[in-house]
Formats: sequence, structure tokens, C-alpha cells
Amino acid sequence: MTSCRVTWHPVTGHPVTWHPVADLAEFEDGPLLAREAGGVALALYRVDGAVYATQARCTHAGVLLTEGEIVEGYIECPAHYGLFEIATGRAQGGPVCRDLATYPVRIDGTRIWVGVAPDAP
Ligand code: FES
Repeated sequence: MTSCRVTWHPVTGHPVTWHPVADLAEFEDGPLLAREAGGVALALYRVDGAVYATQARCTHAGVLLTEGEIVEGYIECPAHYGLFEIATGRAQGGPVCRDLATYPVRIDGTRIWVGVAPDAP
């Protein structure tokens, strides 16, 4: 997939490049997808009909969150059971204390786009 035009992050105001990363139909097999956009490994989540994107690796020890489990709007890390709020990326306490980076998501028809800043973590 190729990237698209540059616009601005809706919260930070920093420029982002939008990347087509998936189709909504890909969630039929489960609510978690692993993707890459602009050199960033992403976890995509489908929660209550909405789609969210965060960095793919846990901030505790770097384990892939796409191997974890969604529990009522939170992603549970499979390694040490750290919890992050999916919509905000907020760490919910030990063993995780650093929030996840989150990325803006746009849906165009059934195509999912994620906005990634050039200097994104
Ligand atoms: S690696 Fe995720 S909680 Fe330890």
C-alpha cells in the first residue's frame, strides 16, 4: 500500500502522512491487527465499532501487544499483563508506567487510514 497526502494530527497539530493500512473486513477474524506504516509498527483495534491505532510494542519490555487480549476497552499485554486504555494509550499502572503512542485513524469507505508523523516513535 502507498502513503497519501500530508495533513495535521487532530490533537497535536503536527503534520502526519496518512497511510492505508487495512480494510474493515480484516477484523472479521478478530479485533486486533498488526500493521506497519511509515516505518512504525502499529497495533490496530476494533472496539465497539470504532478503530484505534497505537504503537505495537508494550512500553514495559517491548512485547507485541497484538499477541495480547482486549478486555473491555483495554489491551492486556501478554507478557506481564500490563493494561493500556486503547482509546488513549494510557498505561493503567504497574508493571506499565509509560503510555503508548497513539495515531489518528480515518475510515474511507471500508479502507482504514492511519496518520503517522515523520518523527513518530
Ligand atoms: S512487556 Fe508488557 S507488561 Fe511487561
